[in-house]
Amino acid sequence: QRLQDTISPIKEAPYTRLCSTKNILTVNGMFPGPTLRAYQGDTVFVEVHNQGTQNITIHWHGVLQPRNPWTDGPEYITQCPIQPGGKFNQKIIFSTEIGTLWWHAHSDWTRATVHGALNVYPKKGTNYPFPKPHKEVPIILGEWWKKDVAEVLDAFLETGGRPSPSDALTINGQPGDLCPCSKSDTLLVEQNKTYLLRIVGATVNSIVHFSVANHNLTVVGWDGRYTKPLTTEYITISSGQTMDVLLTTNQNSSSHYYMAARVYSSGLGVLYVNTTTTVRLQYKGNDAVPSQRSTPPILPYFPAFSDTKYAFNFITKLRGLVDKDHPIKVPQNVTTRIFSTLSINAFPCTKNTTCEGPNGTSLAASMNNISFVKPSTSILEAYYNGINGVFQTDFPEKPPLAFDFTYDLSPLALQLSSRGTKLNVVDYGSTVEVVFQATSVVTALDHPIHLHGYSFYVLGYGFGNFNETRDKLTYNLVDPPFVETVVVPKNGWATIRFTADNPGVWFMHCHFDRHLVWGMETVFIVKNGKNGPKEKMLPRPSYMPQC
Ligand code: C2O
Ligand code: CU
Repeated sequence: QRLQDTISPIKEAPYTRLCSTKNILTVNGMFPGPTLRAYQGDTVFVEVHNQGTQNITIHWHGVLQPRNPWTDGPEYITQCPIQPGGKFNQKIIFSTEIGTLWWHAHSDWTRATVHGALNVYPKKGTNYPFPKPHKEVPIILGEWWKKDVAEVLDAFLETGGRPSPSDALTINGQPGDLCPCSKSDTLLVEQNKTYLLRIVGATVNSIVHFSVANHNLTVVGWDGRYTKPLTTEYITISSGQTMDVLLTTNQNSSSHYYMAARVYSSGLGVLYVNTTTTVRLQYKGNDAVPSQRSTPPILPYFPAFSDTKYAFNFITKLRGLVDKDHPIKVPQNVTTRIFSTLSINAFPCTKNTTCEGPNGTSLAASMNNISFVKPSTSILEAYYNGINGVFQTDFPEKPPLAFDFTYDLSPLALQLSSRGTKLNVVDYGSTVEVVFQATSVVTALDHPIHLHGYSFYVLGYGFGNFNETRDKLTYNLVDPPFVETVVVPKNGWATIRFTADNPGVWFMHCHFDRHLVWGMETVFIVKNGKNGPKEKMLPRPSYMPQC
């Protein structure tokens, strides 16, 4: 057990990007925020001080927090927000996670600027399953709005239409050379060394491709788990995902290269940020060659913005690392089966003005046609204290909706979701399988679905309507990736499986913040087991924030 001395005053600070200055929320005045370092299995305490002017919470993304939902962080799910002037001492319990994870705010859209990396190192005396890298390099992918993010969110919710896209993609907070008033950072490298890129998908509403001109990448970790090494020219990484990637500097040292990221957006007519963010990759010694300084660095290749094939070519290739040190246990007998549709749909306009959704509706998002409504108190507290009326336990409603989920627009009746705080209660030790089906009710999109408190096996992906008899034959039960965010393809499906052995209240949601505020989420309550304290939630800390 270790005591982390990072105290984190969350406060506003002025930052200038894209030729204009605004105040943003920062941690310790930094954007992106500080990196938290831990060894596998550590317990770390972070005291979060809110010195800003709005409510906030902090979430440790990808940390399983065994039996400890209390300090997991999602606002109104496991805690009331930390109010301005308040503090909250958060316990972060690491167990089997290793590699790169991240932490971020989990209240409205504050995570746009309040986020940072969480580096988890092998325990003392143990090693990576790959050669020790020469150095590690943080690559935090983000999005920047010229306007105040809280105002962007308000305007978006006000119209009932689509949000304005961000003005630039960023790496480590910088839009880079190709954007106005911006300059790329330079990564100075030595020839023939291997660098570990710790890549964090901290974008708000996007999936991006990331690539380094003329260099291959080798993916060795994903979402805080090792993967079978995968050598590739590019990676596709969603909001909510993290990847550990090796870069070997074996190219001509007299050229300059860009490491760059650009959006992948599957939705036709969906507004997205179309800038390319860059970092300069420069070999040591080459800075002395003046003739090179005037040639622009080489840019990597990017496909068309909507190239779903290109994205899933990479995504579906990743495999979990399986060997005698990393055995896998895909649960076999499924006890809880959930079929979950993911839709962008609409809700009747509640304002006097015309809303910008189809036929004057307000746009919404849903799981199983229910747009989740966050209560005004913590679900975890309500559950723990047996308070009635805060949530209902009938998710998903039965019988399931019967309509063609893909390709055809369904009747307008089905575009209207219902609203509710509906969640799913499972017994300790249940084996849960969820098949996510992305639909095309108003528009067809990919959805990165993230689950708190668990890593899960991704058994398979496919395009079109899920067909159980046909598609379960394609499941990978041998070396599936073990992750906490899965990208469900546009007009397609993805299947995950996990054993519900972490009692508590755990959020599951689309990691695009625009879909999160529209209601594409639900909660799992995993009950305590019956075999003693090891199967029970930890007691409630007395100092939980109050609503
Ligand atoms: Cu990265 Cu619920 O969050
Ligand atoms: Cu989504």
